[in-house]
This record gives sequence, structure tokens and C-alpha cells, in this order.
Amino acid sequence: MATKGPPEIAIVGAGIFVKTQYLPRLSEISHLFHLKAIWSRSQESATAAVEIARKHFPGVECKFGDNGLDDIIRDPSITAVTVVLAGQNQVDISLRLLKAGKHVLQEKPAASCTSELENALSSYKSISADAPGQLIWSVAENYRFEPALVECKKLIAGIGKMMSIQVIIEGSMNSSNPYFSSSWRRNFTGGFILDMGVHFIAGLRMLVGCEVVSVSAMTSHVDLTLPPPDNISSVFHLENGCSGVFVMVVSSRTPKTLWRVVSLNGTLQIERGFQGQHGYLVSLYGADGQSKTSFFPFSGVTEELKAFINDVSESTLKKGSQYVAEHRLSFVEGARDVAVLEAMLESGAKQGELVHVKKF
Ligand SMILES: *[C@@H]1O[C@H](CO)[C@@H](O)[C@H](O)[C@H]1NC(C)=O
Ligand SMILES: *[C@@H]1O[C@H](CO)[C@@H](O)[C@H](O)[C@H]1NC(C)=O
Ligand SMILES: *[C@@H]1O[C@H](CO)[C@@H](O)[C@H](O)[C@H]1NC(C)=O
Ligand SMILES: *[C@@H]1O[C@H](CO)[C@@H](O)[C@H](O)[C@H]1NC(C)=O
Repeated sequence: MATKGPPEIAIVGAGIFVKTQYLPRLSEISHLFHLKAIWSRSQESATAAVEIARKHFPGVECKFGDNGLDDIIRDPSITAVTVVLAGQNQVDISLRLLKAGKHVLQEKPAASCTSELENALSSYKSISADAPGQLIWSVAENYRFEPALVECKKLIAGIGKMMSIQVIIEGSMNSSNPYFSSSWRRNFTGGFILDMGVHFIAGLRMLVGCEVVSVSAMTSHVDLTLPPPDNISSVFHLENGCSGVFVMVVSSRTPKTLWRVVSLNGTLQIERGFQGQHGYLVSLYGADGQSKTSFFPFSGVTEELKAFINDVSESTLKKGSQYVAEHRLSFVEGARDVAVLEAMLESGAKQGELVHVKKF
């Protein structure tokens, strides 16, 4: 099955994110793998994605429908598959592929709710127990790979004990946004708060380096063109004793993404910005009153895809046994992000009652 040379991969899904992110980002690292096939449920959308892909991956095959998916599942040359489908279908398809011995990189959210997460993790455990080598199930959230967040994780150690945290998100999910009409996102419990929110919770958890234990939240539905809720204001408590606020408005006139950690010996702030390209401004305010700001362009999606392909190659080389896959991609990390948001949504539905976050 595993041969020398770069791994062969397939993309399952051919939606907006595949066409505008996966294909361009994968083309930047096309020397690391071979793209064998793209699948979609419909022939039309598979063909449209393949047309874009052929510029960079001339031999890519077009697969669609149940038969096309079976072809991918049964093709022993395909060692890894990226699953980029409607959130409601991803876990089932990922598990089918894992059962067939493929490594999987699945788009976020890891699952639609914590009960689905629990079932997913127990199925993965039993599939892994029967597999000859290590089977990787990764979740793509990309924020854990953003250079700005990686840098802040180092800087935060230098500003002493955390006192207060703010995560402020003002989204721009209006009718100009290509995902606005996405029917599966609208049909998700938690709507865009869950689908988009996992990114910001991933950033928070990575930054503080510990888990969110409990939350209390108020939610509302104001913009009726959006699925409910479209606003959430939450207080969260961390394992390390610190607490903070998480505020998210799905559609605002003032797009903003901000994490701010106020500590005893300084403050660290990350804010989305633009300096010729999109990225993050990282500001460190020291105990001496001095501040230093640096700009980090976005490259999380590319770094994450690179890490997954590297995991697949290494695990094939080392036959799985001693190889430790990149923990930032692990399914359980994605599961923890969903669990935090589910707790916030549950608290919102109970008018702010304190809710403990399910542990994964
Ligand atoms: C924080 O500041 C205090 C006094 O200003 C100092 O003793 C301590 O070492 C500092 N801690 C860190 C982590 O810099
Ligand atoms: C929405 O979800 C429900 C159940 O969760 C399902 O029955 C229905 O087919 C879905 N509709 C769309 C448009 O996805
Ligand atoms: C919710 O968000 C809308 C914008 O989408 C804003 O106008 C409104 O004030 C917010 N409501 C609450 C209760 O936060
Ligand atoms: C959507 O939001 C963006 C960013 O705030 C804004 O530039 C655009 O005009 C908005 N479109 C609509 C239809 O409101």
C-alpha cells in the first residue's frame, strides 16, 4: 500500500472552501504530495473543482456520487483524504474512510455537538485498535497554525500571572459573504456561532494553554436574516483560575477579531489587521510601559496542510508505531473547541445559568 515517494491524497468535497482555499494553498506545497482525485456528491460541482485543480495538478481525477466515493475508498494508492463537506456529514464520511485505512484531515467543526463527538471518538478508538498502523484523524481549524498565535504562545510566558482575558469578535456574515447562503450552516444548531466560533475558541485555548472549565452566557437573535443566535456574550472560567469574556456578533458593520490577555507584568493583544496583506497585529505591553507591535500575515491554512501531509509521510515511513502526530491537529483538540461553544449556547438557552464544559 504505502510506496516510496510523496503520498497520494484525495479531496472529498468541492465547495467554496475547497475552490478558494484548499486548491490554491495545496498548489503552494504541491511538491509534498500527489493529488489523485476530487470528489463531490454531484458531477457538476466535482467537475468545477477539478477544472480549477488541473492548472496545478494535471492528472487529477474527477469522482462523484456513491460510486465515485467507493472508488476512493477502495483505491489502495490513496493514503490520505481531506474531508471538506457539510458539517452534518463529515464525521460519518471520515469514519468510513478511516475504516478503509485512510488518514483523514476533516474540516472543522469536529462534530455538530458533544454527543456526536463522543460517538465519533469511541468509533475512532475501535477502528484504531483493529488497524495495523497508526491512523491519523485530524481536524482542520487552521488558527492553531497562525504564526501570530504561535508567537503569542511564547510571549505570554513572559508577562506573568494572567488576570483577565477578552475575546471580542465582530463578524461580517452579511449577504456579501460567500458563506451567507450556505444551507448546512443555517441548519446547524448554534448556526454561525458554532461554525465560526470554533476558530476563536481554538485561538483562546492555545493562547492561555489550559482548558475552559465553565461558562455563563446570554444569547440573542437580532438580525433575522441570520440563523439564531447571532449574538453571544459569555463569561468563561479557566482551569488556571483566570476568567474572561467572549463576545461574538455574527454580522456587524465593524469587523473585528481580538484576543487580549491582561497579566500581572504586561498585556498581550492580537488583533486582525491589514498591512498590504491580511494578518494579525501582535502588541506586547511590558511592565515598564513600553510596547512593541509586530505584524504576521495569515498562513495558517498552508501551515496546517503542510503539517498533515508531513504527519502522513512520517507515519508511513515509521510504520506508525513510535510516530507522534501533530497534537494541534488532533481530533480531540477540535472536540474541545466544540464543547466550549456548546456549553455557552446551552447557558444562553438557560438565561445565563453556569454550565460546565464537557471534558474530552
Ligand atoms: C513580574 O514582576 C515582578 C516585580 O515587578 C517580578 O518580581 C517578577 O519576576 C515578574 N515576573 C515575570 C514572569 O516576569
Ligand atoms: C436540516 O436538518 C434536519 C435535521 O437536523 C434535516 O432533517 C433536514 O433535511 C436539514 N435540511 C437541510 C436543508 O439541510
Ligand atoms: C446583536 O447584533 C446586532 C448586529 O447583528 C446588534 O445590532 C445588536 O445590538 C446585538 N444585540 C445584542 C443584544 O447584543
Ligand atoms: C457586509 O459587511 C462588509 C464588512 O463590514 C461591508 O463592507 C459590506 O458592505 C456589507 N454588505 C452588506 C450587504 O451589508
